[in-house]
This record gives sequence, structure tokens and C-alpha cells, in this order.
Amino acid sequence: MINNNVMLVEGNRLYLEQLSNIIRETETVTLVARFRDAKDALGQGMVFTPNIILLDADTPNIMNLLEEFHQAYPHADIICTGEKWSAESSSLYVNAGAKCFLVKPFSSEELLDAIFAFSKPATGGKEAKVMTFFSPKGKSGKTTLIANLAMAISRKTNASVGIIDADLQFGDMAFFFNLKPQSTIVEAARDTDFLSPVSLNSYFVPVTKNVSILCGTKEPSLIDKVSIHSLETIIDMARTMFQYVLIDVPAGFNPTSIAAAEMADTTYIVTMLNGGYEVQHIQRSLDIFSTWPDYRERVKIILTRVEPCTITAKQEMEEIIGYPVAGIIPNAYLDVATAADDGRMALDLKPNSPLSQRINYLAGKITKKKQDNDDDF
Ligand SMILES: Nc1ncnc2c1ncn2[C@@H]1O[C@H](COP(=O)(O)OP(=O)(O)OP(=O)(O)O)[C@@H](O)[C@H]1O
Ligand SMILES: [Mg+2]
Repeated sequence: MINNNVMLVEGNRLYLEQLSNIIRETETVTLVARFRDAKDALGQGMVFTPNIILLDADTPNIMNLLEEFHQAYPHADIICTGEKWSAESSSLYVNAGAKCFLVKPFSSEELLDAIFAFSKPATGGKEAKVMTFFSPKGKSGKTTLIANLAMAISRKTNASVGIIDADLQFGDMAFFFNLKPQSTIVEAARDTDFLSPVSLNSYFVPVTKNVSILCGTKEPSLIDKVSIHSLETIIDMARTMFQYVLIDVPAGFNPTSIAAAEMADTTYIVTMLNGGYEVQHIQRSLDIFSTWPDYRERVKIILTRVEPCTITAKQEMEEIIGYPVAGIIPNAYLDVATAADDGRMALDLKPNSPLSQRINYLAGKITKKKQDNDDDF
């Protein structure tokens, strides 16, 4: 077993005591040295050969210190600690070589999670691709699509995928996966001030080795507990935790869907083709998104329940809408309903069905891996 020999560098005397005790209580971890002064740690810590350094980031000159610690301890993993996580400073630390950021005071579990996080398929310091799935109206098949797509992406790439159910009143992701989560987006939002990406991880429920879900509220009235600011912080943290993040939002333009769309690299407008006013809905949505100067790169269209689901149907719709269509999903009520009854993914139940093919195709486009099919729609 690998020895976790920790050196604690902490300027605050009270934290030094408190964190020392927590480290001592943590199994598989040994506190080999502790210093209040970072310069002392640089000079004297070497003899203790730490392989993990907890470095107080609330000290002046932290960026220079990080560099000096790296040179002095090239084989140690450095975890920055601080009183509050922020996207900007944390990414600076990580870019400067820190492995992650922990909010003080952390628990034994959080410390172990942080150490364990090093050994997971890393995001390689790169930020996730964040995708928001927006629909002008409800019942477009958006939740079903997100769940299956997340699975397809993780299978194709072995990448880590996070789903955030921000459909704050009537989020269905927990039902979809048959989960009874201990913690949801409500608890995560409540705790954002004390969380870092490492600790937020425990609020996500793993459904496979690489796919985890932050479930939606348990009751519609809890929507008030999730502020837009906390949702934005959660998305910012998730960006550093996964390689792909898929966000489900309530139908229509509302503060939640707008905030999630603004934070996403790609926003998919998901609309069911039902012979109604869908084309107008898409066009009106595009009008609103067109206030973004780069909306043509960031906004993509997915049509669901397309019948017949052919390249000709896709091209016809592109002409009518006047905008490219990124993907089409067939009408496959029986497949999705049978899968739901079975507690399984439509993708698993019928891997070669037109529905699975179209979802795999979209996953291929998102991950830019070679497509499964010869056809290109
Ligand atoms: N491709 C599809 N073909 C036919 N039926 C589908 C398809 N995808 C989903 N459905 C069915 O449509 C209904 C709505 O699906 P889903 O919950 O995924 O949509 P949604 O857009 O998330 O809805 P909501 O607005 O309630 O969040 C479900 O009964 C589901 O089984
Ligand atoms: Mg839904």
C-alpha cells in the first residue's frame, strides 16, 4: 500500500492544531511534519520525505510559494487549502501544479477523497465540456436524451461524466435512474460556501464507474433553496471535476435555464417534432440566443421523435428552420418506455436500435471520436 506521508503547512495557529488532529485521525495517512512558516517547511521539511503537502493558500505570495515547493519537492502532490473556494484562484493553483483545493477545515473523508482523486482518471488539468439542454416546451424527451447520452459518452471515451439535474421543480433524473439520493442540488447549493470540487463530489450519486448525478430537488417548493449564484458555483466546480457535464434545466426561458445556458460551452435546443408550432419555438429561441455574438458556435439543435428519422428529414428541417440540425432522435416510445419499466437504459436494452444509433452518433460528435455509422446525420 502506498504511504500517504503528509506535511502540513498552515499559517493560522488554530487551523494548524485542528488540521493536525484531523490528519492524525485519518486512516492510511501519516502526519510526518507540520510548519506554520512556509519558508521553514521549504528548508527543513525535506528530511521527512512527504509525498503529500497541504499548503495554506491564504498566505501572501502563494503563487511563488507553489513554484518553490514544486522545485523543492518534485515528487510530492500539493493540495492547496483555503477558507473559500473560487473558480479563478483554484484554477490558478491547479495551473501552477497543485492537485486540487480543499476548504478548511476539511474532514478525514474529504482529505481521503482528495488523495483518492489523484488516482482517478484525471481531467488532465483540462476543464470539462459543459452542455446545457434547453427546450422551449416540456416533454421533449430531454431528460431521456441526457441520461442515455451521458452513458454513451462515457462508454465511448471512458471519460468521467457528471449530470446536474437543475430542472429545479420537477427534475426527473433521480426517478429515471431509480435513485433515492441522500443529497441533492439543494444540499449542494446550501453548502457551496464551504465546498470545493473534491467535497462536492460526495453530493453526486454514482450510477456507473464514470457517470454521476447531482439529483434535483425532492419537492417543487425547494426551488427557492437553490439560488442562481449557488447553481453557477456548482457548475464552475463541476467543470473541474468531470470531463463532460450535462445539465438538465426546466423548459422555457427562466433564470435557471438562462444561467445554465450562459455557463455552458454548448447549449442544445431540444424540441420534439409533433406537427405543431415547434419550428416557431426553435426560431424564437434562436432569436433570444442570437444576442450572444458567438451563438452560432454555441447553440445547436436536436430534434426528437422524428418520424421517419432519416437524413432527408433532417435536411428538410434544416431548410425550414434555416439553421443546422446537430442531431435527430427517432420516435421510439416503446423502447424508452420498456427500458424505464425495466430500470435500464434504452441504449442497453436495444444497442442497435435506431434510437441507440442516433444517440451514439451524437455522443461521437460531442467527443469527436469516429462515428459508429457510415451515414452522417
Ligand atoms: N425519443 C422518444 N420517442 C418517444 N417517446 C419518448 C422519447 N424520449 C422520451 N420519450 C417519452 O416522452 C416522455 C417525456 O420524456 P422526458 O421526461 O425525457 O422528457 P422531458 O423533456 O425531460 O420532459 P419534462 O418537460 O417533463 O422534463 C416520457 O414518457 C418518455 O418515455
Ligand atoms: Mg425532464
